[in-house]
Amino acid sequence: MNSKFEKRLSELSKLKGYQKPQKVSDAIKLDSNENFAIKKEFQAELIREAQKRCDVRQYPLGDVENLISELAKYLKVPANMIGVGNGSDQILDLMLVNLCSKKTKILTSDPTFGFFEERCKLYSIPTIKIPFSEKMKLNIDDFIKKSSSADMIYLDSPNNPTGFQFTRSELKKLIKSFKGPIIIDEAYVEFADSSVVSLVKQFDNLIVVRTLSKAFGLAGLRLGYFAASKKIVDVFTKIIQYPYPLNTLAIQCGILALEKSNKITTIFSLIKNERKKIIQNLRKTGAFDVFDSNANFVLFDARGADRRVYNALIEQGISIRKLGKLGIHKGCLRVTIGTSEMNSKFLLAIRDLLE
Ligand SMILES: Cc1ncc(COP(=O)(O)O)c(C=O)c1O
Repeated sequence: MNSKFEKRLSELSKLKGYQKPQKVSDAIKLDSNENFAIKKEFQAELIREAQKRCDVRQYPLGDVENLISELAKYLKVPANMIGVGNGSDQILDLMLVNLCSKKTKILTSDPTFGFFEERCKLYSIPTIKIPFSEKMKLNIDDFIKKSSSADMIYLDSPNNPTGFQFTRSELKKLIKSFKGPIIIDEAYVEFADSSVVSLVKQFDNLIVVRTLSKAFGLAGLRLGYFAASKKIVDVFTKIIQYPYPLNTLAIQCGILALEKSNKITTIFSLIKNERKKIIQNLRKTGAFDVFDSNANFVLFDARGADRRVYNALIEQGISIRKLGKLGIHKGCLRVTIGTSEMNSKFLLAIRDLLE
């Protein structure tokens, strides 16, 4: 192999890359912010129905447009302002690789979505990071001030892993004050108080990235989408993400899920109630610092006992996410809100551990 190629491969092999959770067989899976409150049988029926609409011998010509029409109704945004991708991961990735360079400084928070941060490292895109406070909060004025030295802004809203979300009016102030592209990643927005998606009609620098992985319980199908100005969507759809961004079965499942969205949206309030229960119960133990959350997960600092808590839960067949040091917090763990039964098992295991 030629030496330039060898050198590049060796550079890349040194990158840590995005850390996926460990696969634990038969575990109660509370480590990836998936949605198990939607029944497996409901999704299986969706796939059966979708399959009837598919002829996989054909390329999915015209099908994506139908999915985009459904997304337009769901978002109340015109169809020509919506693009799709193989998971929102891929949308973020394609935006970084095509719109940014080693000279593009991206302003974001610390912590931010791990995948986004790792992709910036992969492409040597510099980041300016504003740390969360001790209570895992951010201040919008810090972002407005720092944005003068940035070319792009990326914020996950709510943030993964903290669950923090700026208010809509705070974000509007930031979007208004910034001239470059600003990506607001709303992967968890259905569990939150507000969205900025309608602002894409007002601000042509705003890109709102979303997904059917979380709220709609379709993580395995890789259905991401975004809303932005027609100009951005046109370039993305006709040049960058071309010609067949999604597979036929995923497209049809996405259409059906959106058609049935009134059955799914009721689950969001269930998850919010369960989140409240988990936060209250974890706080009651007095053993952890537990942070408020607007997403389908809760972050807590086990004050140095994170490994012990994580391992004890694994022994009980419960997998949560180990995050370690975040700012001044030494041993952070993140638990996804599951079904009421899963959450009770988690809380029971925590209670047993602390006894
Ligand atoms: C903030 C954030 N954005 C995007 C994603 C990726 O979602 P998708 O499954 O659509 O790639 C995640 C998934 O964990 C996330 O936490």
